[in-house]
Amino acid sequence: MDSDNILVTGGCGFIGSNFIRRLLAGADFHGRIVNVDSLTYAGNPENLHGIAEAYPGRYLFEKADICDPSALQAIFAQYRIDTVCHFAAESHVDRSIKRPDSFIRTNIMGTFNLLEASRTAGGFRLFHHISTDEVYGSLGSEGYFTEETPYRPNSPYSASKASSDHLVRAYHETYGLPTTISNCSNNYGPYQFPEKLIPLIVLNALEEKPLPVYGDGRNVRDWLYVADHCEAIRTIMEKGRRGETYNIGGHAEMENIAIVEMICDLVDELAPAAGSRRRLITYVADRPGHDRRYAIDFSKLHGELGWSPAESFASGLRKTVRWYLENRAWSDRIRSGAYQSWIREQYGEQPDCSSEE
Ligand code: NAD
Ligand code: DAU
Repeated sequence: MDSDNILVTGGCGFIGSNFIRRLLAGADFHGRIVNVDSLTYAGNPENLHGIAEAYPGRYLFEKADICDPSALQAIFAQYRIDTVCHFAAESHVDRSIKRPDSFIRTNIMGTFNLLEASRTAGGFRLFHHISTDEVYGSLGSEGYFTEETPYRPNSPYSASKASSDHLVRAYHETYGLPTTISNCSNNYGPYQFPEKLIPLIVLNALEEKPLPVYGDGRNVRDWLYVADHCEAIRTIMEKGRRGETYNIGGHAEMENIAIVEMICDLVDELAPAAGSRRRLITYVADRPGHDRRYAIDFSKLHGELGWSPAESFASGLRKTVRWYLENRAWSDRIRSGAYQSWIREQYGEQPDCSSEE
């Protein structure tokens, strides 16, 4: 990749940490990564344990808030940032319904601050913005989201992401900032915060706790293994046309209840217990404004840049369940809250913009 100094925002979160590991391990990137993360409840430096030592001088961490323009200006100048890969966001739909303020602040104002810092930086090469298929709203039983689908976000989360997408697009049109945007479907894999469906169900199944399924359990998501998402981002950053948007998906549409049942069966197989975990399935009240179905048409990305997912849902889910089984200390520290005491000891108080439940 043609970058010397990449600023990755939100690199201590789920997808950002997978992306940093993968980029540094790959053969085609020789530059330096500066990870800017404010360490909200979703940011965990343990996700990048050992990386600074494994890549001396090539991985640097700055605890900073993207809502702080002067901190961003200083970081851009200090590290001569030429590329931004922007993951940092409040990412959980249920939290956005309970308390939208931090979503508006980080996802909209934070993106604006980063765009301003990029626009005024010398020798700037690319701003890649990571976004979501949720900006398109909900599908019925037929059809797919394409890059031409009109925006129709239904939650405060997706509305804030839609707003940030528009800002990025506008900075390309108005100021000629070199940008790319990707809108991706649901990710799963290692290091996902256990509030999201798949890790929550795996850990609750292991602990023999109820497995909450919203509404009738028939909502559909299009699932993508996180390594495939990271590879798609790298491909777009390297070869994507500037000013363009690319959809990313897995061709893996699943009803929620089918996923929960698959996880129960995998946990039964890999960590046998007295009875089937399926007995723990508990239907609960639906999410307000719950989008019914997402499905992505990624033929633009495949046709123009040659990307397609490598992992099937069955193999990716098995790998993922195995990872959570083998990394119980990681999830125990999160579920007990111990990770936050450790972060406070290392880095000081948590920021105000963390999204409390
Ligand atoms: P995550 O919640 O796991 O991580 C978000 C990270 O951003 C955390 O490390 C957090 O500390 C950091 N952060 C939050 N507010 C910040 C701020 N004000 N300043 C600096 N850092 C801040 O999120 P994720 O699931 O890894 O998602 C990453 C990106 O990908 C988001 O932009 C999200 O909208 C997008 N996305 C996610 C998915 C998915 O399935 N998870 C799918 C498509 C797109
Ligand atoms: O589509 C991309 C989006 O996927 C990303 O932009 C978001 O950042 C990411 O959080 C994810 O959003 P979802 O709302 O689809 O993911 P979540 O894991 O929260 O829920 C997946 C589905 O499972 C959804 O239909 C709601 C349902 N669900 C979720 C939880 C947490 C349940 O039935 N029970 C649960 O306990």
